[in-house]
Amino acid sequence: MTDESHDAIESLFTESRLFPPPKDFGRGSAMSETLYRELLVEARTDYEGFWARLARAEIDWITPFTRTLDESDAPQYRWFDDGTLNVSANCLDRHIAQRGDKPAIIFEGEPGDVRVLTYRQLLAEVGRFANALRAQGVKSGDRVVIYMPMVPEAVIAMQACARIGAIHSVVFGGFSSESLRDRIVDAQASIIVTADGGHRGGRIVGLKAICDKVVDECPSVRAVIVLKRAGNPIDWRPGRDLWWHDVVAGASTECAPVALASEHPLYLLYTSGSTGRPKGIQHTSAGYLLGTIITMRWVFDIREDDVYWCTADVGWVTGHSYVAYGPLACGATMVMYEGAPTIPDPGRFWQICERHRVSVFYTAPTAIRALKKHGDDYPRAYDLSRLRVLGSVGEPINPEAWMWYHQVIGQERCPIVDTWWQTETGVHMIAPIPGITATKPGSCTLPLPGIDADVVDSEGLPVTAPDKGGFLVIKRPWPSMLRTIWGDPERYRETYWSRFQGRYYVSGDGARRDADGYFWVMGRVDDVLKVSGHRLGTMEIESVLVAHPLVAEAAVVGRPDELTGEAICAFVVTRDPRPTGAARAARIAELRAWVGERIGPIAKPAEIRFADNLPKTRSGKIMRRLLRAVARGETVTEDVSTLENPDIIRQLGDPETE
Ligand code: WTA
Repeated sequence: MTDESHDAIESLFTESRLFPPPKDFGRGSAMSETLYRELLVEARTDYEGFWARLARAEIDWITPFTRTLDESDAPQYRWFDDGTLNVSANCLDRHIAQRGDKPAIIFEGEPGDVRVLTYRQLLAEVGRFANALRAQGVKSGDRVVIYMPMVPEAVIAMQACARIGAIHSVVFGGFSSESLRDRIVDAQASIIVTADGGHRGGRIVGLKAICDKVVDECPSVRAVIVLKRAGNPIDWRPGRDLWWHDVVAGASTECAPVALASEHPLYLLYTSGSTGRPKGIQHTSAGYLLGTIITMRWVFDIREDDVYWCTADVGWVTGHSYVAYGPLACGATMVMYEGAPTIPDPGRFWQICERHRVSVFYTAPTAIRALKKHGDDYPRAYDLSRLRVLGSVGEPINPEAWMWYHQVIGQERCPIVDTWWQTETGVHMIAPIPGITATKPGSCTLPLPGIDADVVDSEGLPVTAPDKGGFLVIKRPWPSMLRTIWGDPERYRETYWSRFQGRYYVSGDGARRDADGYFWVMGRVDDVLKVSGHRLGTMEIESVLVAHPLVAEAAVVGRPDELTGEAICAFVVTRDPRPTGAARAARIAELRAWVGERIGPIAKPAEIRFADNLPKTRSGKIMRRLLRAVARGETVTEDVSTLENPDIIRQLGDPETE
């Protein structure tokens, strides 16, 4: 993070519309204006007592804790650490008496198949799969990689791991074999759970075939468990590959939840940072679970009769906290959808909302923008009158998309909760409370009770002037925070805690606060991009590009994109003379495919520009700020005379230069 990027996030943007909470929203809500104020005061006056009280109220403990927060080994903070619990028991077993026959998951496949699992059925499936994992020798603390489509078995596998204390690492189904391999190797996983294929965008994604390419390079893997989902033909390795339906066939549905320490790792989730190597964010059991529960209640206002739908894939953190854990821990009914929003047409999301009577809907700005582009007729064709809360996550939502969401989807009735958080924070940190917080299009509003968020300058001092940009930091440890980076505690300390000498958690985002204290997140100040809400590191893409035999040097930057939020723009210097004409188009296609195969289709650059060299300072540093300006099509006005090679700017600025 540089001061240069800090300057770049100074904001000029002003959005002044204010939407007061709908008057009749509050009836039936567990939250009230008074309670909200009390929570804020309680958190401020007795921080540890506040979290301890919530942890006692919301979690079913096997052994109650007596210590709330242990800071002795900071920044390896420990929460509730002498207590024991089981996360899966908190999500399933505790609901059986009252909600055994309540639907837990309403699944809809892309081809239109619908399957409902009640809490009782889900518990039985989780028990069977947990026993099956045990039969494969999986023990507490072992790592299990899950590479699945969005089907109930993905959640069943995650919950089964939690039940026996295995640590899951879900890999997004859109990642390629090499990304999968790196994650398996880093975690030293013993089992992979996958499927023959999943339906996505009218095609079948052959997940098993992608696994097959790399399993031999992963000596830690003993077995690959394969769910039959799409029925596509697959290769089979006897002795290593096992069908899901076979391993659960003889297994008992009863599997007693194991008592695990509060700090027992629940999962690893790899995410991109500012180096070439993704990092395994490690979350724990009790603190994380608590965070998912309270935010389901506060931010989504989840109620007994809600039908809740979060469209995120289980491969991302949103699919962990707000699909696999939070809704189940609250005993909610949730919809799970396998496929793309545009199959068979762009009305699919709204059709699902009508069909399953969705009342709380949570999606990403990219999806909202994409569906908005198809016009109002699609949503207008469906009955969306059940919707009462709309959520947004993953990237800043632009005011135009916010207004469309508000007017056309929410019919001016539903509060929009724009939730700011990260893989590392585990759960929502800055978000409105529906029915209580007035909203402004594009602002995630105010920190939740117990979250000490601030905007600070490069010295770490609070930025008090309204609308002045700075670093978004969290000033106190919170229960659902990451605990470390798997296998690399030093990188954890360095990445998140070193900039302000261990005093604050540094999010890597820039933000400003307006005169009302509302937060406006302005995007990353490091080398992380958000493309369609997917988190990607520029360094990761660069290192893949330079691994191509034709590439001598590469620099990757983001530029704003109307649809995907940010788009990837790569500047490439080839070993041979700069390609022109037909060769240029062929090289672009080749490099895009190369990145797609090595990271995943989501990482393919939207644009590749070839140059004779890259703009560098005399000390040899690539001038990324200049490249960002060039990618945005801005005229470079600053003095480039200190550049090693000032003429290069002209060549870069014109992608068609022959
Ligand atoms: C961005 C996703 C603006 C931000 C949950 C953050 C947002 C990164 C918002 C984390 C929001 C997430 N408004 N920006 N409401 N939510 N971001 O780890 O840059 O995939 O640092 O977690 O997404 O991405 P991640």
